Formats: sequence, structure tokens, C-alpha cells
Amino acid sequence: MRKPLIAGNWKMFKSLDEAGSFAEDFVPRVSDVTDRDILICPPVVYIQALAQACEGSPVMIGAQNVFWEDQGAYTGEISAGMLKSCGADYTLIGHSERRQYFGETDETVNKRLLAALRGGLIPIVCVGETLEEREAGKTFDVVDTQLRGGLAGIGAAEADTIVIAYEPVWAIGTGKTATPQMAQEVHAWIRTVLTGLFGAAAASEMRILYGGSVKGETIDALMAQSDIDGALVGGASLDAASFERILRFKG
Ligand code: PGA
Repeated sequence: MRKPLIAGNWKMFKSLDEAGSFAEDFVPRVSDVTDRDILICPPVVYIQALAQACEGSPVMIGAQNVFWEDQGAYTGEISAGMLKSCGADYTLIGHSERRQYFGETDETVNKRLLAALRGGLIPIVCVGETLEEREAGKTFDVVDTQLRGGLAGIGAAEADTIVIAYEPVWAIGTGKTATPQMAQEVHAWIRTVLTGLFGAAAASEMRILYGGSVKGETIDALMAQSDIDGALVGGASLDAASFERILRFKG
């Protein structure tokens, strides 16, 4: 019922040439894939080139961030409409690195989310606890606050296109993955929160991705969990063969 989504977050890696070489290698590898959605979120300057290189293939392109105004005197910012016009279909919002280094708050996540929907982008809203928060037993509280703040003002009718990515901060780029059971526990609970916010029908349509050191060796067991609908992959999405292995998860 929920089509799996495997999303690559390239963060601030690769030159334009390297992005082009990746597409040349990757697109033929995945041209037969129809039963799962494939997304790459490159640095914003490569969106147009990659969207062209992936045209006619199952590979979709997303941004890593979006500004909350549609246009105006906001030097250095990029709107949802601009991203869409360059070939993006999705955008990440509220990645933990943006929360950690760039002052992202649940309020700005919410503004970006509303702008993404207005501009026709599918938002992937990232949530997750730090190690200190997990050890203090605050995981559910933290994620609950992030969800309620980030999703404020959203109605059931628009909720089902929104994607949530649960990424425990302690698992990002560290090689430490949550066990499939740990991830499933939080995912199931996120769906309960979404059910409370939007009703059971919308919540059952919403995809919840897991992120944090996902690799070819860990993806199958994660995807076997009933509330894990895909993955947000950082490091392992930079290499065509390893990203292909992940999106060809069994199950
Ligand atoms: P990682 O990154 O797979 O390298 O841990 C995941 C992410 O930050 O989205």
C-alpha cells in the first residue's frame, strides 16, 4: 500500500563531473525498477544537470533544503518554485545537520514545509533524537515535539504526501545503526502520533523512512519491519553500486 522510497542524501559532496559520472553509471543499473521510488538529493547546484541526466529513468531528484518564501529580496536563498523549475520533485526539510549547525527549529521546519507543499514539492521532514536525549529516556518526547511543531497547520488532505524520516542523530555518519527493532519501535510510535494528528487513513498512507548509517548489509532487516517504508541514505548513496544494493533490498 505504501510504495517504498529509497532516498540518497549527498550532503556537500561531489563535483559536477563526479555527479555526472554517477548518473552515467547509476541510471542504467536501475532502469528496470518500478516497485520502489528512487530519489537523489544532490547539492542544489547539480539539480538541473542531474534531473536532465535522469530524465526518462525511475530516478527522481530532490533538494536538501528549501526557503519558506516564494520570491523576494532574500540573498542566497532558493524557493520551492525555483527547485521545481529545475527538475526537483522532493525536498529534505529539517535534517539534523541543519538543526545542529544552521539554527533550524521546529518553527522554521514548519515554514519550509508549508512552502514546499505550496510549490509542489514532496517534503521529507526529518526528526530524531541525540544520544544524550536517548540515554535520558526522552526519545519519544523529542520526536513528538518535532512532529507536532514541524507539521503544525497541516490538514489530513495534504498530510498523505508528506514523508517523515526518522534519523537518530547518534546513528548519522557514525556507523552505528539502530537495530531494526529499535527503529520499528519509534516508527510505529510515529505512526500513532500521525494517526492522532491526521486520522488513521492519512497516517496509513504516510511513508516513514529510517536514516542513519544505512548500508547494503543492514537494509534488508530494516525493510522487513512493518512501519519502515524506506531509507534516507547518506554516505552509502555516494557510490552507485552501494546505493543500488540498498534500493534492491529484499522484501
Ligand atoms: P548516513 O547519513 O547514512 O551517512 O549516516 C544519513 C543522513 O544524514 O541522512
